[in-house]
Amino acid sequence: MLEKITVVGAGHVGETLAIQLAKEGLARQVVVVDILEGIPQGKALDMFESGPVDGFDTQVIGTNSYAEAKDSELVVITAGVPRKPGMSRDDLLATNADIVRSVAEGVRKACPKAIVIVVSNPLDVMCYVTKETTKFPANRVFGMAGVLDTARFRTFIAERLKVSVEDIQTLVLGGHGDTMVPLTSYTCISGIPLTQFLDQQEIDGLIERTRKGGAEIVGYLKTGSAYYAPSAAVVQMVKAIVQDKKRILPCAAWMEGQYGIKDTYLGVPCKLGRGGIEQIVEVQLTDDERAALNKSAEHVRSTIAALKELKR
Ligand code: LAC
Repeated sequence: MLEKITVVGAGHVGETLAIQLAKEGLARQVVVVDILEGIPQGKALDMFESGPVDGFDTQVIGTNSYAEAKDSELVVITAGVPRKPGMSRDDLLATNADIVRSVAEGVRKACPKAIVIVVSNPLDVMCYVTKETTKFPANRVFGMAGVLDTARFRTFIAERLKVSVEDIQTLVLGGHGDTMVPLTSYTCISGIPLTQFLDQQEIDGLIERTRKGGAEIVGYLKTGSAYYAPSAAVVQMVKAIVQDKKRILPCAAWMEGQYGIKDTYLGVPCKLGRGGIEQIVEVQLTDDERAALNKSAEHVRSTIAALKELKR
């Protein structure tokens, strides 16, 4: 258990995450920071008051300042505006970069030793903004995307095959967007390759649905984006870190030559433990998969470049 985990942003992802962290007993204190006056305070107090019923002692605190977040060992940044139907994650670039920059500045001052998990979109670029602003080492700044994208792929496969989601393992690499790279070659059902169950056309259909998984939810909700699966994915990452589990989970990580890629964030399998990202695991890829990963990296890099242009 940690002393303090801070969740920045009291929107749907932030609040759903905060209550789950409390219920799982992952920290003595969960601090929810948001700029809206009264909202984090009210939501946090409401969560705290569910403790006696749900059986947790975690103190949930809502605040508008980083003073209460001081010395958090782990911070999750969910702040930012969500997509509306028809928007891509990249359409949020300028607005969310400003928001995330100011959040990262607060985190840098109040929580200099924290591990930071970024959730705000466009995810890979917001990880970059956070790393640039906090100047924290790369093993302490990374993003949640791969766990969510693999969860979606697993859901669709399980639904199609009428088997338990628990038995499906897969890997989705690349940026959190249309260029993500779900890997059929690493997808199996209790060790049995997916290709023994479905033909390529059907697999391609499930991959396409996974790529558009976030937009499918936005299309229904109209006023916001997904939050149950995203916050569940963050909880899994937090648990791996707090309990030093050394789980191998796909995360948006700063690339320093792995897969022949550098100077960008990208979704890759990472070993997560108390040190944050303790290792980036390099898996063998086919030529097509490697080309798709390079294309995805190029897309993230060009979005980072577009952001730098905006700042001029
Ligand atoms: C999604 C958003 C959170 O994929 O990026 O649903």
